[in-house]
Amino acid sequence: MLQFTIHRTAGHARRGTLTLNHGSIETPQFMPVGTYGTVKGITPAGLKDAGAQIILGNTFHLWLRPGLDVVRAFGGLHRFIGWDAPILTDSGGFQVWSLGRSAKISEEGVRFASPVNGDKLFLTPEVSMQIQTVLDADIVMQFDECTPYDVQRGGETHITTETEARASMELSLRWAARCKAEFARLDNPNALFGIVQGGMFESLRDASLAGLVDLDLPGYAIGGLSVGEPKEDMLRLLRHTAPRLPGHKPRYLMGVGTPEDLVDGVAAGIDLFDCVMPTRNARNGHLFTRFGDLRIRNARFKLDQRPIDETCACPACRQFSRAYLHHLDRCREMLFGMLATAHNLHYYLGLMREMREALDAGRFDDFVERFRRDRARGVA
Ligand code: GUN
Ligand code: ZN
Repeated sequence: MLQFTIHRTAGHARRGTLTLNHGSIETPQFMPVGTYGTVKGITPAGLKDAGAQIILGNTFHLWLRPGLDVVRAFGGLHRFIGWDAPILTDSGGFQVWSLGRSAKISEEGVRFASPVNGDKLFLTPEVSMQIQTVLDADIVMQFDECTPYDVQRGGETHITTETEARASMELSLRWAARCKAEFARLDNPNALFGIVQGGMFESLRDASLAGLVDLDLPGYAIGGLSVGEPKEDMLRLLRHTAPRLPGHKPRYLMGVGTPEDLVDGVAAGIDLFDCVMPTRNARNGHLFTRFGDLRIRNARFKLDQRPIDETCACPACRQFSRAYLHHLDRCREMLFGMLATAHNLHYYLGLMREMREALDAGRFDDFVERFRRDRARGVA
């Protein structure tokens, strides 16, 4: 089940509504990352307060812990984790890849040792679909290989060649077809998305896209970006690929990125984003604001009685000073991670809402200009 309506456009940018089995989300939209079925440091109520409409979970991690028997007993992830709105699950391809050398990739799938207990595991396109069906995610991602930008070999850095990127992209395409067949065999009532790969090569991105469009999936993602490449390459491939995806289907840019990347992504025609940046950076004392980023660990905040951002309505900014947050962080208090996470998610989700409102009002270009000016100004 998936319905996508586009209400308005501005250049490549789109303002839409995406209806899934567990409800509707307004696009463009950002998905907080909840790898183990929890967005670290925040409750489902806190997520809703921050404006979250959909969250992301990870097939790979949830397969290892708590395991499918537990999630199956709850009839799916939603009831187990207490989140009643839509969920997207990533397929495990990207997470297995980050295990590094210990994962052995073949045509059939990926063999690896469980990082939890050392068990020998074999993740294939079919197994990924079976796991995501038990999880009952509203959006199921195909099992793919995230083509690396570079690899370390004997102390040297090897940048992925076009030949290597083509082989990897073609493997992901064959896996996409297997995912589609298994998804249908399982009678999964949700929506399967394909993932465009092709490394840093436009022609390979085009071939990947054409192959996936032939499969006629309900939505498409761009993968293999923000994997260590220079920013200009990310933007070049984003701007090449996004507008070429089918116009009437949702488009998702995986694992990206900074606030500037979200604005560039929307301008290029992206509808959905996910990234660990707001939540992970929060726990490291890196706070995002309209007027640039702020490192709360900096001694200059020791006596600063102002909130992180006067214009922010999050629980941290409503009630607490920079000085207190600086203190909580220094003492490694749990409350710091909770407040910083709430703030960063309010900022990210508020930025997405502002982009939607600007698109609704037909003034997206003005918004982008003001966004860049404000962010460059720096925090007072
Ligand atoms: N997350 C970020 N990039 C990717 C990708 O290329 N593939 C998958 N499956 N997940 C991702
Ligand atoms: Zn705030």
